[in-house]
Amino acid sequence: MKNLLGVTVVLVGVALTVLIFLMLFVQTNWDKKYESPYPDLRASTDSTIIARGKYLVYGPAHCAACHSGAEDYEAMESGEQVPLRGGEVFIMKIGKIVARNLTPDEETGIGRLSDGEIARAMRDAIGHDGRVLPAFMPFKLMTDEDVIAVISFLRSQKGVNNNIPDPEYSRIGKWQLSTGKYQPRKIEGEPLKSMKREATAVYGEYLVNSVANCVGCHSLATIKYGVKEFDIAPLSGGVNFGGKDINNFRFITPNLTPEKQTGIIANWDEETFVNRIKAGRVYEYSPMPWGNFSRMDEVDIRAIYRYLKSVKPVAHKIEKTVYAPGEAMPDF
Ligand code: HEC
Ligand code: HEC
Repeated sequence: MKNLLGVTVVLVGVALTVLIFLMLFVQTNWDKKYESPYPDLRASTDSTIIARGKYLVYGPAHCAACHSGAEDYEAMESGEQVPLRGGEVFIMKIGKIVARNLTPDEETGIGRLSDGEIARAMRDAIGHDGRVLPAFMPFKLMTDEDVIAVISFLRSQKGVNNNIPDPEYSRIGKWQLSTGKYQPRKIEGEPLKSMKREATAVYGEYLVNSVANCVGCHSLATIKYGVKEFDIAPLSGGVNFGGKDINNFRFITPNLTPEKQTGIIANWDEETFVNRIKAGRVYEYSPMPWGNFSRMDEVDIRAIYRYLKSVKPVAHKIEKTVYAPGEAMPDF
């Protein structure tokens, strides 16, 4: 009896020590700072460059879909140049993260950030404060010319004073940050200076993977040490935009590879694809930034089609992409 008590006391003691050690570890490690060289790129005041930047921000790169205020979303979808004042809230496992103010306001926007700091955030996913930015912005290999165009446009806007709260990381989020689950981006390859804009698979590959992030939503992936490791072949769909709230519409992304039986566009000709993208949003709550993509020019849409038709076909059957409120849905 005495022995049993002794063993219990020791076990509880060990468990408490481990717990205290883990808490101290997270407390001292979650707020990691990362370093990487600032890209040597400078904003320009040339109106052609600014116009290219505006096209990317409100079109294929869809910065506006996340960085305009939530109350402006509808206006933004229908093509208005709403200010990029930030404020959209993302509730994720890692915590509550709010998209920043990208207007040139000195106090609350990018007025206080250098061109290099903005370019580094886009490419390496490191914030101006050294924080790792969870994988939202896939612009590692965006060309110098396009990064410059985007920053030049951002600098040309009118400043809006709108203070954005810092992220509130969850307990799991702090653990993940402590153990280095999220890291600055380490995709292989060097960004090109510029690219020829033409309706080719090569240019389409660039748009799909490094600008419009079709690959991010249409591929099952696990984030592992800063590199997206695809569980199954990229672009074959299956990402679950479900969430716990069954009173909302929920979605699973379709397979975009040209596999005859299971690929959604495998049997679409180029005109069908162009018309579908231009027609825009069908489901009000779909997370796909249809409004932005519907205003891409035809060269870009055709390039994307030609690239998607050239990727490795993957048989991955997605039963349904849209689930009505209350409807049963496969688990995450
Ligand atoms: C899918 C949503 C999404 C898209 C698309 C997006 N962003 Fe962001 N961005 C965010 C979120 C969320 C944050 C805040 C992250 C954080 O605080 O951890 C952010 C942060 C930033 C920051 C802040 C860096 C810092 O140092 O504070 C910059 C700059 C930025 N984004 C630029 C852009 C640009 C330019 C584009 C388009 C080329 C873009 N973003 C597209 C969601 C997005
Ligand atoms: C933020 C996530 C997200 C991004 C980015 C995204 N998609 Fe989607 N996509 C979805 C979801 C969710 C659906 C299913 C709901 C719907 O049809 O709106 C979908 C549906 C589709 C469909 C089927 C439409 C139909 O009529 O059934 C096509 C085609 C498509 N996406 C192509 C693309 C291409 C091309 C890109 C890049 C230019 C892209 N998607 C980027 C989430 C995304």
